[in-house]
Amino acid sequence: MRKKIIAGNWKMNKTVEEAVELAKAIKLELADCNGVDVVLCPPFTAIKAVSDVISETLINVGSQNMGSEDEGAYTGEISHAMLKELFVRYVILGHSERREYYKENDFWINKKVKKALEKNLRPIVCVGEKLEDRESGNTESVVEQQVRGSLADIPASAYTELVIAYEPVWAIGTGKTATSEQAQEVHAFIRGLIKDMVGAEAADAVRIQYGGSMKPGNASELLAQPDIDGGLIGGAALDAVSFAGIVNAGI
Ligand code: PGA
Repeated sequence: MRKKIIAGNWKMNKTVEEAVELAKAIKLELADCNGVDVVLCPPFTAIKAVSDVISETLINVGSQNMGSEDEGAYTGEISHAMLKELFVRYVILGHSERREYYKENDFWINKKVKKALEKNLRPIVCVGEKLEDRESGNTESVVEQQVRGSLADIPASAYTELVIAYEPVWAIGTGKTATSEQAQEVHAFIRGLIKDMVGAEAADAVRIQYGGSMKPGNASELLAQPDIDGGLIGGAALDAVSFAGIVNAGI
């Protein structure tokens, strides 16, 4: 039985003070979140402060990106060691906004995934098609290329650690959620791909989150699908009550 995982991606929102306030509110709402893994991913600048707020809870802290190298002349990058120092456990990699606005590609995402695993950080690897891909019937081929590219040469044993987030780009921040059937169909397809790449055991173990306008009102139905193992939440993660509502739908 795969444990559900609900992660809040705060994106480029919240100063340190605002982040502390939100983390405290989430902590109060989620006094008991035993049955589900919960991850908060604030901007880099607020990670330390959020880590401090949730230090004695079951809530985990994650980052929204990570550099692929250990250290050195990489202006603007953040390394695994810098994140681990702040008790980061999860790293979101290859989010569609990074792919679209900062031209991250599967080659670089794959390097980051390998580095994260080598350093005992859990990658949340994002994939998903754009509206034009879906409308032209290319959802599966686009998702397949991203999965095979960003997870190239990852050993079967790593799939208990890594998480895949299927996020149709047309559903992110738009209020348009994939129906539970649409989402389940792609999740099952991704699980089939993993089986083909590294075998049935890894495919059965890997957790696949859905992301894209997930809210308390649609979370239960999405999370009830057999291949949907959690959610990567953007907008609704910025409100403690909404985020807790989604977490509770996963318990
Ligand atoms: P959204 O974002 O929930 O605001 O659609 C999801 C994401 O980008 O991870």
